[in-house]
Amino acid sequence: MVNPKTNGIEDVKNAFIKELKLAKRSENLNELRIRYLGRKGIVTQMLKSLGTLPPEDRPAMGKAINDLKSTIEDMLKRRMEELALFEEREQERKDAIDVTQPPKGRPWGGFHPVVEVMHELMDIFVGLGFSVALGPEVEDDFHNFEALNIPPHHPARDMQDTFYLQGNELLLRTHTSPVQVRSMLKYGAPLRIVCPGKVYRRDSDPTHSPMFHQLEGLLIDEDVSISDLKGCMVHFIDKVFGRPLKSRFRASYFPFTEPSLEMDVECIACSGEDPACRICKGTGWLEICGMGMVHPKVLRAGGIDPEVYNGFAWGLGIDRVAMLKYSLSDLRILFSGDIAFLAGGVN
Ligand code: DAH
Repeated sequence: MVNPKTNGIEDVKNAFIKELKLAKRSENLNELRIRYLGRKGIVTQMLKSLGTLPPEDRPAMGKAINDLKSTIEDMLKRRMEELALFEEREQERKDAIDVTQPPKGRPWGGFHPVVEVMHELMDIFVGLGFSVALGPEVEDDFHNFEALNIPPHHPARDMQDTFYLQGNELLLRTHTSPVQVRSMLKYGAPLRIVCPGKVYRRDSDPTHSPMFHQLEGLLIDEDVSISDLKGCMVHFIDKVFGRPLKSRFRASYFPFTEPSLEMDVECIACSGEDPACRICKGTGWLEICGMGMVHPKVLRAGGIDPEVYNGFAWGLGIDRVAMLKYSLSDLRILFSGDIAFLAGGVN
């Protein structure tokens, strides 16, 4: 450090200039100012020590120190302006928004797994010449039961208890079969339709939800045979699961078909090889859907002459197909609103 007591004004100035060059930020300049011009700063000390000089030297020395002081002040001020400008530009660069940068975007939404499967199933039948028909979820007794040969007090009603509105006049439909009646009345014969949609029943356990989805099918024409029905359904199953699966048809009962059948397909998980299979419970078969030849009474309720036309119909649970396709053990996860499941549930 320069001893202010010596006559080292040039030395102080040179030392300051050197340090000034090293100061890269405005904080460094403030430190410099304090060190040279502060109360205990080098230049201030020099001024204070004037009194120790012989009186004749004091005016010249005093002027020289004051000149040094204003030189330092000027240089600090200029450098401060330069740095302030530089720092401002630097900040602007940091804050700048690149308007040409593509947006990050949000993750894509997607169809619910059930809707995805519903579309897939519908596509298969559309490929076979069927049209898609929709009907109301709030139905009346006539379309949901009566016209389907399920009169009041028929035991089939017990299995399809539902939610009633306005006394017992309206109800949440228990199946998509009422769309058969509505479509026959609206379009007449011949007819080829599939009817997807929500249905409601008083059921809730790992394989039943009070709201679920069905796909109904109806074909009406002249001389339709049960082998047409079987051929149609076998083709459908092969398409759904992407490979030919063994199937079997069992005699069954539905009030709206005669004869009635139940279709089973070979277990997609174990093909009947695993007696402890969780999916088929060791039976080797999976129940897929109910079907049959449309009952003459139903045709008549739909305004179609059963002497001229006949047809087949089926009804299957879309959620059940989704369960099989995605190997779900609890159906209710489909309706739980679980985002992690929904995001990963469908590819
Ligand atoms: N509606 C029946 C149910 O919900 C399913 C069904 C069976 C529909 C046979 C049909 C059919 O059209 O022919 O259980």
